Amino acid sequence: MTDLASVDYFSDEAVSQNPYEYYEYLRSQGPVFREPHHGVVAVTGYQEVVAAFKDTESFSAVNAIGGPFPPLPFEPEGDDITEQIEAHRHEFPIFEHMVVMDPPAHERARSLLSKLLTPRRLKENEDYMWQLVDRQLDEFIDNGRCEFLSEYAKPFATLAITDLLGVPEEDRDEIRHALGAGRAPGSRVGALDGEPVGLNPLQYLDDKFSAYIAERRREPRGDVLSGMATATYPDGSTPELLEVVRPATFLFAAGQETVTKLLSAAVQTLGERPEFQQMLREKPEMIPGFIEEALRMQSPTKVDFRLARKTTSLGGVHIPAGTVVMLCLGAANRDPRKFEDPNEFRPERRNVREHIAFGRGIHTCAGAPLARVEGQITVRRLLDRTRELRIDESAHGPAGARRYSYEPTFLLRGLTELHIEFTPAEPSQAGRR
Ligand code: HEM
Repeated sequence: MTDLASVDYFSDEAVSQNPYEYYEYLRSQGPVFREPHHGVVAVTGYQEVVAAFKDTESFSAVNAIGGPFPPLPFEPEGDDITEQIEAHRHEFPIFEHMVVMDPPAHERARSLLSKLLTPRRLKENEDYMWQLVDRQLDEFIDNGRCEFLSEYAKPFATLAITDLLGVPEEDRDEIRHALGAGRAPGSRVGALDGEPVGLNPLQYLDDKFSAYIAERRREPRGDVLSGMATATYPDGSTPELLEVVRPATFLFAAGQETVTKLLSAAVQTLGERPEFQQMLREKPEMIPGFIEEALRMQSPTKVDFRLARKTTSLGGVHIPAGTVVMLCLGAANRDPRKFEDPNEFRPERRNVREHIAFGRGIHTCAGAPLARVEGQITVRRLLDRTRELRIDESAHGPAGARRYSYEPTFLLRGLTELHIEFTPAEPSQAGRR
């Protein structure tokens, strides 16, 4: 058996495939514990993670994505390194995006996003998703099998965001293809065929959206993109072009991979646990609880980071300024002090919505309502349109000896592939909305 004390969380292959045993080891050392390999303070306690998220005075989000990588571009000095962080901010990964910003810059960036994610826009987007889900299922339902990530989850997540942002219909397929989310059979060949944008997809999107917004600043058209083009800051000032573009394009980065991971975790659970298929077919009102429980059990964002900007303490542990703190969402969501029998999948648990898969505090996931709806609609229509959904044994092995492979990253938790089989429902039972 692996000696868990000697494991390097950031590079260990086995831990990236199954982090939960390692999280339990960390928890056994206390809810806040400094791991020895990178000097990162790992937080596995639910209440301690929430406390760190909320304490923006002591913790900066500047390293939220990379944690200890790359190493700090400066040597921390003293008990307050706020000035050092600000002097070097531009050297941190994706410093232009809101997820790593601190107040007050964060508030300004997020205010633009809230103009886009209005209740009305989210409702229109939900209506579109009901059609999208069926279009996507139509692509493979008669085959009786599919590889769920490439044939459903990735294109679905990408197209849901293109609609949210009001990308013109005729450009959606190009974006779907450019972002590696496959192309609908028989659909128009995108202008980017053979031109991979994989190296810097955000740059591709920044360019694309800069063109949309610039055009609409010259000539507003009353569409969603025009709304973004004319949005102003709370003080009435007009943002620079890129200041509007970035919150929009970041939605792709934040919402594509994570949603794909949520959808595949939910469908994997349905395949492994036929009793849930039956329960949700009989009581669709339990689908939201099922999605929340999938988020808790398989938190797609496994960990999130903060940098202690001031010397402080967390859960009774001394944290000097300059310490990298790893907030283990996947572990906090299984904290037995918060969730009874935390390793049991129970959609009906009392506090099913209290997980922190979407973070907490000022950076709480801006796309959480969208992600939830994507999960709920997917499960609903997949169950309506199939009978007996099964895990494909030829790809994953028999029950009791399954082979699943997960993305080998320390940040996200998600399957690389999910092969499923099913019997399509009779058209009369599949009832379209
Ligand atoms: C299951 C799917 C998702 C999960 C698990 C997830 C998780 C998270 C987490 C944990 C954070 C907080 C990061 C931090 O505090 O450092 C976050 C932030 C964010 N998420 Fe999500 N997310 C998901 C889907 C989405 C979607 C669909 C969108 C947009 C369409 C989105 C947009 C954002 C944005 C813009 C932020 C930054 C908010 C800020 O800094 O104020 N996310 N997400």
